[in-house]
Amino acid sequence: MKLIDPYGRIIKDLRLSVTTRCNLRCLYCQPLGYEQAEPPGAITVEEVRLFLQAMQRLGLESVRFTGGEPLVRKELPQMIAAAAELGIPDIAITTNGLLFARKAKELAEAGLKRINLSMDAVTPEVFRAMTRGGQIEKVWEAIEAAWTLGMHPVKINAVMIRGMNEGEVIPLASLSLEHPLEVRFLEYMHLDNSNPELYHARFIPGAETKARIEAHFGPLERVEHDPTAPARVYRIPGAVGRVGFINPVTEPFCSSCSRLRLTADKKIRPCLLTELEMEIAWAFAAPNPIEALVDAILIATNRKPAFGNTLPTLRERLMVGIGG
Ligand code: GTP
Ligand code: 5AD
Ligand code: SF4
Repeated sequence: MKLIDPYGRIIKDLRLSVTTRCNLRCLYCQPLGYEQAEPPGAITVEEVRLFLQAMQRLGLESVRFTGGEPLVRKELPQMIAAAAELGIPDIAITTNGLLFARKAKELAEAGLKRINLSMDAVTPEVFRAMTRGGQIEKVWEAIEAAWTLGMHPVKINAVMIRGMNEGEVIPLASLSLEHPLEVRFLEYMHLDNSNPELYHARFIPGAETKARIEAHFGPLERVEHDPTAPARVYRIPGAVGRVGFINPVTEPFCSSCSRLRLTADKKIRPCLLTELEMEIAWAFAAPNPIEALVDAILIATNRKPAFGNTLPTLRERLMVGIGG
């Protein structure tokens, strides 16, 4: 059975946030001084298994574990193992990478297939400023560890912020020349409740980033990619790896959205950029939880909006609480 929303979109990808905690405070993700407490009753390994079983009945093809930072959740390997035991084809995480190298082998053995890493700069000082204290060396170690374990492709996420990392565009794109990386440039989304003027001053359209790359390397070659995925993918002529652009603000990809989200406090969130959430703690406690969860997923999917709101608005849940 397929899960189809009211706009005819096939929902096949689950993003599962396993914690709201993070070991970094990236400036585009979590305002300084803001502490998102771990919700009481965070989703358990058994609940993850049940939810995945319900989603599988509805045609689930991929699960991506997110946070906060998913690696701060000590049960992450068991959650990945649950997904692997169920035979879900694509099992991934989005991580800041700081804790990855030391846990990589355990995660691979559990069934992790691939990782997407946040890396907004290659210059250590710029990276440290954007992540408020992160060490770039740890991210390099994470990349090496993923390659050693045969995880491909490793994708890099760089959120572009004016006044912070425009100067990193060419060094970041250059990583794709000799390495099998997919370096993606992300438009900054307004999700941190800060003032709209500051947001607008910081925002860089993806087209500007692409033009910067093409001015340096010449025209990019288009590469075939999954039409339901957010990134538009290209290659610098002669490069081993690829570059990508995720432009949710100037080129929204909502019409091809294939995603449903589950928050760490057990709410289905049909759209990243819409506050609507559906509480499902009750379904886990039902006599037949998988059937109850299937019903809940169908109801939530019916409420998935046609598109999300990228305008600066007050939001209840910040990026760190959704995991992108
Ligand atoms: P793959 O293509 O499977 O590798 O994953 P992905 O690119 O969807 O995952 P990742 O977590 O690396 O997401 C990259 C960026 O895309 C993050 O900043 C997300 O917030 C953003 N993104 C992912 N899904 C959506 C979405 O549904 N809506 C919007 N607006 N942004 C999204
Ligand atoms: N805008 C765009 N992307 C963001 N991310 C975090 N905050 C934002 C934002 N405000 C991205 C990070 C990370 C992923 C989880 O979400 O790059 O890779
Ligand atoms: Fe940064 Fe990721 Fe943590 Fe957000 S969740 S503060 S993007 S490391």
